Amino acid sequence: MSQQQWWRDAVIYQIYPRSWADHDGDGMGDLPGITARLPHLAGLGVDAVWLSPFYTSPQHDAGYDVADYRDVDPRFGTLADFDAMTAKAHELGLRVIVDIVPNHSSSDHPWFQEALAAEPGSPERARYMFRDGGGPNGDEAPNNWVSNFGGPAWERVTDPDGSPGQWYLHLFDVSQPDFDWTNAEVGDEMESVLRFWLDRGADGFRIDVAHGLVKVAGLPDAPAGHEIADAVRTADFPMWDQPGVHDIYWRWRKVTDSYAVEGQDADRILCAEAWVRPSESLALYVREGELHQSFNFSFLMSPWIATEMQQVIQESLEAVEAYAAPQTWVLSNHDVVRHASRLGYDPVPGLLRMEGIGADDPQPDAEVGLRRARAATTVMLALPGSAYLYQGEELGLPDATQLPDDVRQDPTWEKSGHTSRGRDGCRVPVPWEGDAPSYGFGPTESSWLPQPEVYGELAVDRQAGVEGSTLELYRALLRLRREHRVGRGELTWRDLGEHALAFEVTSESGPGILVIANVGGEFVALPEGSEILVASGPIDTEQGLPIDTAVWLTTS
Ligand code: NOJ
Repeated sequence: MSQQQWWRDAVIYQIYPRSWADHDGDGMGDLPGITARLPHLAGLGVDAVWLSPFYTSPQHDAGYDVADYRDVDPRFGTLADFDAMTAKAHELGLRVIVDIVPNHSSSDHPWFQEALAAEPGSPERARYMFRDGGGPNGDEAPNNWVSNFGGPAWERVTDPDGSPGQWYLHLFDVSQPDFDWTNAEVGDEMESVLRFWLDRGADGFRIDVAHGLVKVAGLPDAPAGHEIADAVRTADFPMWDQPGVHDIYWRWRKVTDSYAVEGQDADRILCAEAWVRPSESLALYVREGELHQSFNFSFLMSPWIATEMQQVIQESLEAVEAYAAPQTWVLSNHDVVRHASRLGYDPVPGLLRMEGIGADDPQPDAEVGLRRARAATTVMLALPGSAYLYQGEELGLPDATQLPDDVRQDPTWEKSGHTSRGRDGCRVPVPWEGDAPSYGFGPTESSWLPQPEVYGELAVDRQAGVEGSTLELYRALLRLRREHRVGRGELTWRDLGEHALAFEVTSESGPGILVIANVGGEFVALPEGSEILVASGPIDTEQGLPIDTAVWLTTS
């Protein structure tokens, strides 16, 4: 079996370090906790882990506010803990992807502190986007840009003498000032950070807000009255998807390629988190010589409707075809409502519930959500390309939809003026043992967000070895995916009626695999003589595939 370009069909498991495993019992996950639990992933059958940030940070945005790019926050451990974790992962055959946050730093970063202490126009200020305010007294924000977390994207500073000063740009929290990427010093610093982690054995990077680094010169106003979420063309907004970002990634690719071991293909990878439309623009990030992968969020955003899903999959595959790049697939991550909850609502095109769910919102149907989530994953893991899993989805974890508002930590809740609940619901610590304190998350009761009771029933030890459990379904899917190498296959659609999503994908070991998902109709009859390899739920031997169920079949 070819291992060339491992990332083309890799399954990459996202660990959110705060919430995966807590070794020291302080209620917050840490690197030694991760090291101890890595055998779970080797047993699950994934190829790599991607860790959300564990760097030194005041944690105003759960670590996406980095104060020191070359160190581990004491909450998560030390650099020696990182080395031990990486060594253990490699020993188990797992690669390690780290998160790089190049659009902004924390306001605690020494560069930003120096910028605050320095004069307008100084080299220290030139590393960030400081501008004079508008209006006669400079007390109007330099333009109309809004922060992703709500409210204006500009904050006015107070000068050392106490008088109001310039403004700085923060596309996210006020504690996350945007770097100025037109300043060569910024690019050089980030390249040096990449090399720091590559030298320590990191196998690649997930690039945070990859489409945001370059802003249109002069910082013109954003189109008034339009929401970025509805944009047909992301690049119409002067802070997103500007052509200059690609120059940065050409440079980065040269850096990762320079780590190739002689005689082997280069195997350190770069994956963009870029919320970019249309898909043709997104595909530009994975041109030859640029990034290896880019997250494809259109699949995640598709409602549970067969025709819509088929269209999204087809468009996604076509978009990257010209560049011979693999497509990526993902259903859950630390920024969106878990798919076991998202799919527990009636499918309404365009309604995503990305804004989080609170106790007084309509609640998802847990049973329907889980059934559809299992079916959706069964489809996803058969698609050609690479797939990303989010910690706990292999247990079928729902979002914590009843969190008390006073425990919420995502800045979105406050910054949106309590209109958007934010992302805490998908970040609740993972349950490992149904009967242990904090369900085995750590050695104590402590957990930085409270775990819903149902997490106890869904703990790893309650599902391991249990036929029909979600954990065993994931294990079976990942084993078969490897065996048949469907991630490197070719997809052909099959028409089995309007409610069935059906396709055949070629296998490297024998006949192709037929994948059928019943996305909302009567039973779907299974083709005569086909053999079931794996099913997301019980099959009715008489009538066939029940609603919200998916199956892999051999097609000989
Ligand atoms: C995307 C990350 O996934 C998200 O969690 C974070 O808040 C923003 N980027 C800002 O860094």
